[in-house]
Amino acid sequence: MKLPYAEPYKIKMVETIKRSTVEQRKKWIKEAHYNLFNLSSDKVYIDLLTDSGTGAMSDKQWGALMEGDESYAGSQSFLKLKEVVNKITGFKFFLPTHQGRAAENVLFSVLVKEGDIVPGNSHFDTTKGHIEFRKATALDCTIDEAFDTENLHPFKGNIDIDKLQKVIDKNPIEKIPFVIITITNNSSGGQPVSMENIKAVSKLCRSYKIPVLFDSARFAENAYFIKIRENGYQNKTIKEIAKELFSYGDGMTMSSKKDGLVNMGGFIALNDEEVYKKATVFNIMFEGFITYGGMSGRDMAALAVGLDEATEFEYLESRIRQVTHLGNKLIEFGVPVQHPIGGHAIFIDANKFVPTIPRDEYRAQALAIELYIVGGIRGVEIGTVLADRDPFTRKNRYPELELVRLAIPRRTYTHNHMEYIAAALKNIFDSRSEAKSGYTIIDEAPIMRHFTVKFEKI
Ligand code: F0G
Repeated sequence: MKLPYAEPYKIKMVETIKRSTVEQRKKWIKEAHYNLFNLSSDKVYIDLLTDSGTGAMSDKQWGALMEGDESYAGSQSFLKLKEVVNKITGFKFFLPTHQGRAAENVLFSVLVKEGDIVPGNSHFDTTKGHIEFRKATALDCTIDEAFDTENLHPFKGNIDIDKLQKVIDKNPIEKIPFVIITITNNSSGGQPVSMENIKAVSKLCRSYKIPVLFDSARFAENAYFIKIRENGYQNKTIKEIAKELFSYGDGMTMSSKKDGLVNMGGFIALNDEEVYKKATVFNIMFEGFITYGGMSGRDMAALAVGLDEATEFEYLESRIRQVTHLGNKLIEFGVPVQHPIGGHAIFIDANKFVPTIPRDEYRAQALAIELYIVGGIRGVEIGTVLADRDPFTRKNRYPELELVRLAIPRRTYTHNHMEYIAAALKNIFDSRSEAKSGYTIIDEAPIMRHFTVKFEKI
């Protein structure tokens, strides 16, 4: 018998999670005004709200934590982290920040001015937020294949080069401070960007002297997909692939809460000394001195180890295999999901799952609530609720896709948890024709409503 795949780790510490009944969950979600963000974590059995800062650290990371150097200036943990970042990315200059959006805030304070245009594959919400906050425009040049959840394109995170060329042709070059490539592309389903696409973007941008930045939150998962899906990379290590990928860019922002394998942290790395010097001023103002930037010495020490672990094939293989296993199970049950299965999450296509619920009754939100009631599983709506209202007409904006994201925390849940999630979704799917109505909003904030919005059941 061929031996099955099994995880390359064993568990040293466990955390109890609370079970509950369907009746209890019906009561709790009603009390939370049908907003999953309002649930306290003890009312959630499997928490798939995000893969950000929710993973488990290794014994080596916990060991490193004890050796953290908490010096305000010149911390040894900073120097060690700087060395690791340089080894993995090749970028010369490094600034720690407290998380990814803080890195965006610091770097964009230097680079983005009113009236600028920043093209990219698909900007993450905070990236878009930090661009729009500066009265500039974030332009998504996503390839069209990304909007068809059944299309099997292996690199649905790619930038559409023609769309990018058009943006460059239509605007003065000095209005485009940089192009940002998000690896992997969270908004389109944790989908990777190919090395070929990165090279093509880089070549085009370099011919116009436009810098290329990476939003690198899940860069190691992206490198894994390049290794297994792109010709010519099968025999390269993840670290070699990551180094090559970064060599086509000029800098990066990082949310270390994802592929840094830590619970909190971020950083900026870049090659341009002038930009670095300007960024240090904003770092000191917003984050802290340049050798800690909002991070404890111990957290920098754990991050240095985490970055090294996250760029090892063995770790990535078990990580992506777990997400793929859940995805394949759902496909087997007929549940409509974004294909191919991405790196950090499963994206369920609510338009196909519950077309019987009217769109203005928030069908993806209704599905996320049902998953909580049935299984105690907390996912997140990525649809009309998140897309918010048009700032001028105040009408709901209906995005191309209505999705429920199930983000899988790293090294946290077991194979059995994946089976449980798949079974809960199968049960909902089998009775989907009974779902006829959704929810109505009774209270919402003027922007970023999804965090605090209150619903009523129709
Ligand atoms: N970029 C991407 C691609 C992200 O997914 C995130 C966060 C950030 C930047 C911001 O980083 O949270 O450290 O400030 N994504 C989380 C998520 C919140 O759930 O997808 P941060």
